[in-house]
Amino acid sequence: MYICLCHGISDKKIMKLAEQYGISTIRGIRQVTPLGSQCGKCIRQAKEVLEQVTFIQ
Ligand code: FES
Repeated sequence: MYICLCHGISDKKIMKLAEQYGISTIRGIRQVTPLGSQCGKCIRQAKEVLEQVTFIQ
């Protein structure tokens, strides 16, 4: 499922980045992707995805 429609970033992509690089914050994701840089509507949902990944680890 796409989280960031503006840049085509999916929940799987966010999870993969979080796992591969140990990223646990939106700031970290934004350093490697343009997530949230256009309309910003995806930030809240991206946070929820990150929380799920951190919860699972
Ligand atoms: Fe992510 Fe617009 S949906 S910047």
